[in-house]
Amino acid sequence: MSSTPAVDVSSLHVHRGLHKALDDVSLQVPAGSITGLLGPSGCGKTTLMRSVVGTQIIESGTVTVLGEPAGSRGLRRRVGYVTQAPSVYTDLTVTENVAYYAALYGRDRAAVADTIAAVGLAGHAGNTADALSGGQLGRVSLACSLVGDPELLVLDEPTVGLDPVLRAELWEHFRALAARGVTLLVSSHVMDEADHCDALVLLRDGRLVAQLTPRELRDRTGEERLEDAFLHLIRGDAAGTETEETR
Ligand SMILES: Nc1ncnc2c1ncn2[C@@H]1O[C@H](COP(=O)(O)OP(=O)(O)OP(=O)(O)O)[C@@H](O)[C@H]1O
Ligand SMILES: [Mg+2]
Repeated sequence: MSSTPAVDVSSLHVHRGLHKALDDVSLQVPAGSITGLLGPSGCGKTTLMRSVVGTQIIESGTVTVLGEPAGSRGLRRRVGYVTQAPSVYTDLTVTENVAYYAALYGRDRAAVADTIAAVGLAGHAGNTADALSGGQLGRVSLACSLVGDPELLVLDEPTVGLDPVLRAELWEHFRALAARGVTLLVSSHVMDEADHCDALVLLRDGRLVAQLTPRELRDRTGEERLEDAFLHLIRGDAAGTETEETR
């Protein structure tokens, strides 16, 4: 693992509409590992990811990605982003969708087939995307970003709508990517997925609650279940104010 973080966010402030979506957030995403971005709905996960890939207007602060300012032209091929809502061409087949991105990134047909297999869609490669389920569509979106072989993958809730078997397979795939040196920033509001991550970033109401490992989260709170540990931490953070559930 390199000592220079893949993503370095410092004193980030972002407004969305009148809402303060991120309030003085600073964090580092270590290279070659999986960082989980966790927190209740509306806490700012997508806003933070948009800031990292450079599609979010920021108020102040800095976001450095792979040594360059977020959104720099040179990062386009080095960063893969899968949005929360799947974005695929529904009139094209799975293979055609992935091949389109492969062509943009100069990857060959073998890479297309390998990537489709990796997301468990080999049996649907010839189907048009409009004939797929929601979870399958999400995986086509994922394949489109994986096929470019990016150094940093930013995945916004990639496991929503997947069954437990597929979910486990995808996490194995993420782990294999990290072992090859790829950096992954993955959001989720399912706390039991946090155990698949090397590091956790916990957000609440646009503020950083903690950045720590799953082990440290358990140790700090004395809770074995990560869901309980997270609630413990955000209730402590709220210091007596009312809290919402994690989802
Ligand atoms: N286009 C927008 N205009 C105004 N406010 C917005 C917009 N998009 C998001 N927000 C607000 O910014 C805050 C953060 O939203 P964000 O989408 O980052 O949350 P999230 O943690 O990704 O939530 P979820 O888990 O539901 O995806 C929310 O309070 C939301 O209402
Ligand atoms: Mg979101």
